[in-house]
Amino acid sequence: MQQSTVVHAVRWDEQGLALLDQRILPETVAYLPLGSIQVVAQAITDMVVRGAPAIGITAAYGVVIAASARFKEDAINWKVLIKADLALLRAARPTAINLMWACDVMQAKIDVLDGDPAEPLLVLAKTIHADDDANNKKMGMLGADLIDVGSSVLTHCNAGALATGGWGTALGVIRSGFFTDKISGVFADETRPWLQGSRLTAWELMQDQIPVTLIADVAAATLMQQGKVQWVIVGSDRIVANGDVANKIGTYSTAVLAKHHGVKFMVVAPTSTIDMSIADGSQIPIETRAESEVSEYVAGEPLGSVWNPVFDVTPANLVDVIVTEKGVVHNPTTEKMQALMS
Ligand code: MRU
Repeated sequence: MQQSTVVHAVRWDEQGLALLDQRILPETVAYLPLGSIQVVAQAITDMVVRGAPAIGITAAYGVVIAASARFKEDAINWKVLIKADLALLRAARPTAINLMWACDVMQAKIDVLDGDPAEPLLVLAKTIHADDDANNKKMGMLGADLIDVGSSVLTHCNAGALATGGWGTALGVIRSGFFTDKISGVFADETRPWLQGSRLTAWELMQDQIPVTLIADVAAATLMQQGKVQWVIVGSDRIVANGDVANKIGTYSTAVLAKHHGVKFMVVAPTSTIDMSIADGSQIPIETRAESEVSEYVAGEPLGSVWNPVFDVTPANLVDVIVTEKGVVHNPTTEKMQALMS
């Protein structure tokens, strides 16, 4: 299979942590070096890096940076001091559960460490990063297997290499499907208001020479009415115990449209995105971001107030299949999710 040619969202080298600044793509491809936990947390909040798995990976490297600094500050009490850093990271964005998952994994390692934490924590962060890439590739094949040869698909937001450790979740299935002739055409919603679809997904697919057609979000109904797609394929920020799926705002309406038009709806996410502590989607914290993300497209002064929830919840009954690295769940229910995670 062709290897991904895309740039990596998160990089760790001799200089330390650097993030591909996704706020300025596709015009400018530039990596931002990050040297403190405060800067890492702010970069997550400001969406220098975004996409649930990439946020989790960044947080893991952020803990490495924090632990080195805290150990230098106080080699006896660093485990107490670093708790504030982990709290800062956890608060950086509320919906993407991979952030909390990565903090939990790093905290569990901290709890059993003796001596200088820098090296063992870096090894763990690199493992989280590499595992995510490997899981993406597994999911890519599992998802592509479900698709008939020559299908066309619609994706929403960016759930690609830019949002993960490498291959992508939804775009991983699309990459694997395209390179095995399962997928012949890809439509990308532009994904208002932050435009992850037009600025990131279209750009990322073009890096791999995968032909992509950009549509306005509101064109999805017509796309389906005209029979132009057989699948909607999306990632997720949090899947809960009954199979409800939080993802980028607009995913829910796409799922409703898909159900109405008989288009299949696939969610692709690693098990690090699954939160079995929450029974159903009504309890998922949904991030609301700045009004300016919406109002900047209005010429002149906006006429009223703005509400900008950036995720929504797609009920499990609109989901045909959830694809994870541990296997696929058709028509998700609490029992099936429990069986997957047990
Ligand atoms: O606000 P964002 O850009 O972080 O939202 C990203 C998404 O909603 C993605 O679809 C989701 O995180 C899955 S990424 C593999």
